[in-house]
Order: sequence, then structure tokens, then C-alpha cells
Amino acid sequence: MTDSTVSKRLDGKVVIITGGASGIGEATAHLFANNGARVVVIADIQDELGQRVTTSIGLHRCTYIHCDVTDEEQVKSMVDHTVQTYGRLDIMFSNAGIVSPTNQTILELSLIAFDRLLAANVRGMAACVKHAARAMVDGGVKGSIVCTASVSASMGSRKGTDYCMSKHAVLGLVRSASRQLGEYGIRVNCVSPLGVGTPMLCTAYQMEPEEVEKVFEPFTSLKGVGLKVNYVANAVLFLASDDSAFVTGHDLLVDGGYHPQ
Ligand SMILES: NC(=O)c1ccc[n+]([C@@H]2O[C@H](COP(=O)([O-])OP(=O)(O)OC[C@H]3O[C@@H](n4cnc5c(N)ncnc54)[C@H](O)[C@@H]3O)[C@@H](O)[C@H]2O)c1
Repeated sequence: MTDSTVSKRLDGKVVIITGGASGIGEATAHLFANNGARVVVIADIQDELGQRVTTSIGLHRCTYIHCDVTDEEQVKSMVDHTVQTYGRLDIMFSNAGIVSPTNQTILELSLIAFDRLLAANVRGMAACVKHAARAMVDGGVKGSIVCTASVSASMGSRKGTDYCMSKHAVLGLVRSASRQLGEYGIRVNCVSPLGVGTPMLCTAYQMEPEEVEKVFEPFTSLKGVGLKVNYVANAVLFLASDDSAFVTGHDLLVDGGYHPQ
């Protein structure tokens, strides 16, 4: 499909994507722009990569802002700048996240690494939802907020204890915020992918994307198909757009029917 024939499900929308310089965020930025978003604001800490993604999408419909989500002031000023420049905020895709350097059980948990991880995955996520919601309420915008959780948000993990805990917290944030913001017409949902071969996971596993897909295949119902970032981006587009107009507080699993043993 060419750019002119593709459906414009986000026609005219002003969007922020945190963690948009790489992986799931990058794929979603492209998809959102191709679906008619008026502007996609990429907020990340990898400036060079973020600028490169912005340029490849087109400077007329994509812009980059340096924003470390662990710092609430940076999140607030990034959201304020977006509203001042483009007049409103319609969609927040709060997606930035990290894994710890060690894939630990509770016996090996480093509380220093735990604090660092929670600062990004929980504190950062809360700051993004808070300031996006404030901007939408103040502007009278019936917006959509989508967070990236994980399959680890709703089940215990054999390892990666800190990550699993952080994603459970994202689910709590989404469920609470969706109840609180419904009266303003603001929807809050999350997308929960299985392992997907982004730079984050490829670095952690020291594998190529195709090898990451194979790690999870024995534990999914769907066979002969591995999870790609585009499948996650499509789920985010559904939650961000009016296609999901009556969906809120939902955890959309993109996991091929994952059933770990
Ligand atoms: N890859 C997977 O298997 C997988 C599975 C489930 C959930 N997730 C979640 O998906 C989200 C995106 O991860 P990804 O796999 O695309 O990884 P990625 O590393 O490719 O992308 C994450 C992006 O977030 C940015 N980021 C990290 N800390 C930040 C901060 N403090 N402030 C601003 N930006 C920051 C990084 O610079 C990077 O560009 C994360 O929340 C991750 O937990 C990933």
C-alpha cells in the first residue's frame, strides 16, 4: 500500500512516543506517521538514534525531544512543549523501558539495580501518564494513553524478578488511571508483548532477532510465526485509535498464546 492509499486511522492526531528511538517505539512511530498523525514527537535519551528516526519519517511530521523519563521535570516540559507547539496532545504511547544487566532470581536481586530499573519502568511510566493526562484534561481532549507492559505483567518469572515486578506495577497504573480518567473520556490501556528481537532483548540475550524469536516459539500456541515489532506496533495502533473507542483498562497480550512450562 502506498502512503496515499493506507488508512489514516490517526488523521490529524498529535502523538508522543517515549522510547521512540529504537525497537517497538521506533516501529510504532513509523506506523503512526503512516496513519496520518499530524506530528509524532519522539522522546528518548538516545539523541543521535532519535534524530535519525525522525529524519527517516520526515521532519514535517516527526520531531525529536531529548527526555529522560526518570526525571519528572523533563517529562512535564516535554509534554508542555508539545502542547504549546502543536496546540494539543491526543495520544501518549508511554513505552520507554529497560532491563537490568543481570537476569536475577530473588536470591541475587541487587536493590541498586532494582531502583534504577524502577525509576525508568515504573516512575517514568507514571510521570508520562500523569502529565499526558493533565494535558488532555486541561485541553478538553478525549485522548488515548497506551503503556508498554509485558507478558511478565501478569505472571511470575523464573528470572528477571525486578523486571517482572516493574511490569506488574505498569498494569496497576493502567488499571487505576483508566478508572480515574474515564470521566474525562480519556482511555488508558497497555500492550503486553512476548519477547521480541529489539536492541534491548538482543543485547540482553546476545542474539540476533531471529534467534530471539526461536527462544519463545516452543512456548506459544501459534507455530511457524515469530513475534515481530510490527505486530506489537499494530496492537498499539488499535489501542491508540478510535478503533478501540470503547476499550479502556485493557491489557492487550501480543504473545501468540504463550504458555510457559
Ligand atoms: N523486547 C521485548 O521483548 C519486550 C517485551 C515486552 C515488553 N517490552 C517493553 O517494550 C518497551 C520498549 O522496549 P524495546 O524492546 O523496544 O527496547 P529498545 O531498547 O529497543 O527501546 C527502548 C527505548 O527506550 C529508551 N529509553 C530507555 N530508558 C529511557 C529513559 N529513561 N528515558 C527515555 N527513554 C528511555 C531507549 O533509549 C530506547 O530507545 C519497554 O518498555 C520494554 O520493557 C519489550
